[in-house]
Amino acid sequence: MQHLKNRVALITGSSRGIGAGIARLFADHGAKVVIQGRDPSALTAVRGEIEHAGGHAISLTGDVTKFSEVEAIRHDIENQLGCVDILVANAGGITKPAPLEEISEEGWRASVEGNLGATFLTIKSFLPGMKERRTGCIITVSSAAARRPHPNSPIPYAAAKAGIIMMTQHLAAQVGAYNIRVNCIAPETILTEYNRVRIPPDQQATLAETHPLKRLGTVEDVAQAAVYLASDNAGWVTGIVLDVAGGAVMA
Ligand SMILES: NC(=O)c1ccc[n+]([C@@H]2O[C@H](COP(=O)([O-])OP(=O)(O)OC[C@H]3O[C@@H](n4cnc5c(N)ncnc54)[C@H](OP(=O)(O)O)[C@@H]3O)[C@@H](O)[C@H]2O)c1
Repeated sequence: MQHLKNRVALITGSSRGIGAGIARLFADHGAKVVIQGRDPSALTAVRGEIEHAGGHAISLTGDVTKFSEVEAIRHDIENQLGCVDILVANAGGITKPAPLEEISEEGWRASVEGNLGATFLTIKSFLPGMKERRTGCIITVSSAAARRPHPNSPIPYAAAKAGIIMMTQHLAAQVGAYNIRVNCIAPETILTEYNRVRIPPDQQATLAETHPLKRLGTVEDVAQAAVYLASDNAGWVTGIVLDVAGGAVMA
């Protein structure tokens, strides 16, 4: 079943990890996907995988913390594929936890800009076109770190991800009348390529035990949630936070 047939979908931060998983599954569902990141060789690899599986993909590089680069990405997409129907503002990244007083001013700014700022600038670029066309779907990516406090959470990252949730919900309230849906996915620990290496196997097992479903998440778990939110099956769903968390967050 192809739930996203011929929709144009941009997934920021899709050169690897969760974004790449969303791009692969969107393409399986018939979307024309735009994969995006800063590493051209990683983007070429993901694009190759999608094309090999019979999907349609283009790849574009750019730093989404810079509005001029987001605007350039939008112009390229509009020239090559047409207007974006589905925007997944996924690019972002975690930082190491530390006591608050040891967090540098630069570290704080980098985390807030790389997550909350990047999400804002991405939506700012694509929203006017969606409003003009009176249709669109936006998915933001927060984190379980923003859903419940924990002594080992990186505070700037958690604060930025909490900001993404509020931005999502205020925006959903603001643009519902334009037939634009805005929802947020908040994943708990996902076994991306990076996390498989970063988290030693014994720690993975211990972490899995803290989840009611007794395992850590996969990129496919997040991608399935994104397909649902992007599809017409979620036509009357806006302003929600979908915890993809194995039961570790029950809000
Ligand atoms: N993995 C988890 O357990 C987890 C849990 C909760 C939330 N999340 C959130 O889910 C999202 C994806 O996480 P992930 O684990 O898949 O991350 P990841 O493996 O570190 O990948 C991050 C992606 O974002 C891109 N990116 C980062 N900053 C960018 C920028 N300024 N401009 C353009 N691209 C940028 C990277 O591209 P390049 O490397 O090519 O630049 C890469 O494609 C993030 O927002 C993260 O905070 C992840």
